This record gives sequence, C-alpha cells and structure tokens, in this order.
Amino acid sequence: MSYQYILTEISEQILTITINRPEKLNALNATLIQEIGHALAAHKDDPSVRGVILTGAGTKAFAAGADISEFSAFNSEQGKDLAAKGHVIFKQIECYNKPVIAAVNGYALGGGCELTMACHFRLASENARFGQPEVNLGLIPGYGGTQRLIQLVGKGKAMELLMTGDMIKAPEALNLGLVNYVVPQEELLPKCRSILQKIATKAPLAIQEVITCVDAYFTDGVDGLAKEVEAFGQCFDTEDFKEGTTAFAERRPAEFQGR
Ligand code: COA
Repeated sequence: MSYQYILTEISEQILTITINRPEKLNALNATLIQEIGHALAAHKDDPSVRGVILTGAGTKAFAAGADISEFSAFNSEQGKDLAAKGHVIFKQIECYNKPVIAAVNGYALGGGCELTMACHFRLASENARFGQPEVNLGLIPGYGGTQRLIQLVGKGKAMELLMTGDMIKAPEALNLGLVNYVVPQEELLPKCRSILQKIATKAPLAIQEVITCVDAYFTDGVDGLAKEVEAFGQCFDTEDFKEGTTAFAERRPAEFQGR
C-alpha cells in the first residue's frame, strides 16, 4: 500500500512508518494522521509484524507540529473536529497491540511532540528538540499534550512547558524521562530496532497484556490492578505460556507463536 504523506516498510518483523514531508519539517496534516492510523490497522493482526518504529524523514524533524496552514482559518467547531479525529488515531497508537517506539530524529513540536507521547516509549537523536509551542499561536495542544505530558514528566514541569512553549534539548528530555535514550542520529534506528528485536523474542500475547494493563493505569474508571489479575489469568490459557515454561524446563530458548 502506498500513501501520500508516509512511507512504510517491513523488515525483520518491524514495521517502520516514516512521516515524509521533510520540506515542511514533517508537519502533520489531517490526511497524514489518518494514514498512520491506516498503516497500523493494516498490520494489527499480521503475525509477521512484531513491533513498530515511527520516525520522520530527513535529519531535521520528527514532526514540527500540526500543519499550521491547514487550520489557520478554522472556527471552534472545526478545531474541535480536528482534535477529536486526531485523538482517535493517537489513542489507536497508545493502545496498539504491539510495541510502538518513536524514533525522534529532530524537532518534535506541538502535534509532533504529542505524537511521540502517544507511542509506548521514545528514543531521541542528539539533535532532537521537544516542545509544546501552541501558546505562541493562541492555542493549546489538541492531540493529548495536556494529558500525556503530565504522565511522562509530572505536573509542575508539564505546566511550565505548556505555558512557556519552551523547546527542550534531548539531554533535558532524557533527564525528565520523556525519552529513554539519546543516541547519535545514525544510531537512532539501529537502537530502536535492537530493542524491538529483543521484545520480538518474548511472548506476543504477554506483550499485548503489558500494554493493556499499563494503559489501564491511565484510564478513568478502570481498576488497573483488577485488569492485571484478569490478564495474568488469561496468560495461563495461551500456548505461549506452555511453550515458555516447557522451554525453561528444557533449558532452551522459547519459540513463541503468539497463540
Ligand atoms: N506547520 C506547517 N508548516 C510548517 C510547520 C508547521 N507546524 N513547521 C514548519 N513548517 C514549514 C515552514 O512553513 C517552512 O515551509 P516553507 O519553506 O514553505 O516556508 C518549512 O516547514 C521549513 O520551516 P522553517 O520555519 O523555514 O525552518 P526553520 O529551521 O527556520 O525553523 C522551526 C524550524 C521548527 C523552529 C519552525 O519551523 C517552527 O517554529 N515551526 C512551527 C512549530 C510550531 O509552532 N508547532 C506547533 C504547531 S500547532
């Protein structure tokens, strides 16, 4: 499947989705966001894909925000509609059944920063910059930034970043826990791949339950501990559990099938 604004590639069980508007610093327009959702949906039940990397084309930007030219003439109803549609896709990423890593290769601003935060975790190149500069435009984040930034960096720092619109560099993002690693640009995708390849040796259904249970912690009205009890029990009915325990007893690596 080919798309207008993203590139997709599957190699060694990893789907790489590359935001491909480098001339606009990979600014996110509505179609582009829908394309990301489509690419993920197409591989949700594909056993040949065990993890996803989301990155930006070029070495300057992951995504420098939502496409300002697209919404500069919007009214409140159109603004709400844009945010609501974006939220659906960002939630789809957050709840995806396989690990999704953001490989942040440059600017991750506004919607770009929010997109990285919808991923399960983030790695950054040394030149990466993060920020929520919407207040400079008379706006606030509309793709979950006011909620997910708090989860990742705490309320005080989130308030500061959201109110000042300041951009932070990769080392500060690392200190704040916004990213897990900072590496040279050329090592960014290899490092993401090596983490996903390690995860791909684990039981896929167990990985899926980890994502569901961690997400439950942040979901209103859901008891995360109860969800964990339920998910823990379900693991016992899987072939992967039998394989994992048998392999342990036989002192060999497990070969999980995701069943
Ligand atoms: N939406 C639409 N276009 C954008 C964009 C965005 N969020 N961010 C960058 N672009 C476009 C620029 O308009 C420019 O296009 P042009 O060459 O056709 O004029 C191109 O990308 C390059 O950007 P430019 O500003 O010339 O690069 P720079 O290196 O001087 O500055 C930034 C880089 C990231 C500091 C600057 O582009 C910027 O501040 N972008 C907006 C960030 C923002 O406010 N994001 C939140 C949006 S809600």
